[in-house]
Amino acid sequence: MIQFPRPRELSNNMTDLMQKITSLAKRRGFIFPSSEIYGGFGSCYDFGPLGVEMKNNIKKAWWDEMTKTQKDIVGLDAAILMSPKVWQASGHLSAGFADKLVECKKCHKRFRLDEIKGKCPECGGELTKPRKFNLMMKTFIGSVEDKTSTSYLRAETCQGIYVNFENVLNSTRLKVPFGIAQIGKAFRNEITPGNFIYRTREFEQMEMQWFCQPKTADKFFDFWKKQRMKWYLNLGIKKENLRAREVAPKERAHYAKRQVDIEYKFPFGWQEIEGVHNRGDYDLSNHAKHSGQDLKYEGYFPYIIETSAGADRSFLTFLVDAYSEVKGGRTKTTEATKELEVLLKIHKALAPIKVAVLPLVRNKPQLVKKAKEVYQLLKTHFVTQYDELGSIGRRYRRQDEIGTMYAVTVDFDTLKKKDVTLRNRDTMKQERVKIDKLVECLKKQLLKTA
Ligand code: GAP
Repeated sequence: MIQFPRPRELSNNMTDLMQKITSLAKRRGFIFPSSEIYGGFGSCYDFGPLGVEMKNNIKKAWWDEMTKTQKDIVGLDAAILMSPKVWQASGHLSAGFADKLVECKKCHKRFRLDEIKGKCPECGGELTKPRKFNLMMKTFIGSVEDKTSTSYLRAETCQGIYVNFENVLNSTRLKVPFGIAQIGKAFRNEITPGNFIYRTREFEQMEMQWFCQPKTADKFFDFWKKQRMKWYLNLGIKKENLRAREVAPKERAHYAKRQVDIEYKFPFGWQEIEGVHNRGDYDLSNHAKHSGQDLKYEGYFPYIIETSAGADRSFLTFLVDAYSEVKGGRTKTTEATKELEVLLKIHKALAPIKVAVLPLVRNKPQLVKKAKEVYQLLKTHFVTQYDELGSIGRRYRRQDEIGTMYAVTVDFDTLKKKDVTLRNRDTMKQERVKIDKLVECLKKQLLKTA
């Protein structure tokens, strides 16, 4: 069985926290190492049954925010493979999209220059002079592997949006300003992936490109920065763990006139989770030049304000922020002890399981039968789990650990009164609800904003 990597350079407490989170993720089916039966495959991960639910919830929350809550934004789903000319025009094949890399002369491990100081962090060996390393992932299209068949897996999803700017304009009645949103996979040949799913070579982006008049770009930049901060906060991220950092010119991406990184305070330090960029007319003018197409709108190139978030990084952010340990006793059973209980206090919109159905005991066939009926009733409306193994206290704890919002307990009174106990994860309040009102009641509670 392979181990998740130990995050580098963490204090013991912080290492412990990342260890606990990665082990919970594996044990409960949020995230597995890729190709594990073959010993794993360098920093690639698979989302398990709970992980895929939660990641879908994150993507849905983002998609709804962009295409429903905000105005004048339409969606797109472009191909991962594009003409290599796209990447020439975008600047990704040149030095702009490269990390500076150094190699240890002794152990030959490679590191990003910006991540280390002086000596090799692994063995203390001397380092080579930095050289540039392009991050594009190469592939070949068709049966011949040569220069003419070389293509690339997209390194950012937004290029699919730029090359469809005209198509979207011509097929909708949108006028500048408007936005195009897209969620999809992106690939980068990162030199030092790490910190669990924080930096991987295959990841998912949630990007929105806002096309506007140049003179309105500053106003929209501030607007989108605020909206994006609000999105994380509304989904429960603690205010003290989130900040927006203005990025200095020499640190900015090669296309950015202005850049603010939205950062989260991970156990391994403040790290970027989303970039807000003013890309000016960099992309449309370069694509116009390289393709020979007129990509102007009413005689000018619109400026682009981009919000670029990572679905995987958001996942890690929500997981870390929600993770808490409480002293025993939450479950209020005779077996309640003083040991630490894990509570994943994740926003209800993101919780992978919304409801758990638990028969009070499992050796009473009438209770089990009724509980299974209730489960069948709920599972077509909500992501629902049925659990009859172990004591009721232990089962509450298992559900708290994965952030299940509600637990429905079927007991002896249920058989007489046709009602169940509904327990709220956060308040631990229990109320009796008639079975025929349960779906409606849960829908109402899950939709409530507070
Ligand atoms: N289109 C702009 C763009 O791609 P970026 O700052 O390079 O900007 C945006 O990436 C977001 O994509 C990051 O804030 C992060 O959430 C995610 N991301 C980038 N590289 C990643 C990686 N190697 N692993 C996981 N997520 C990554």
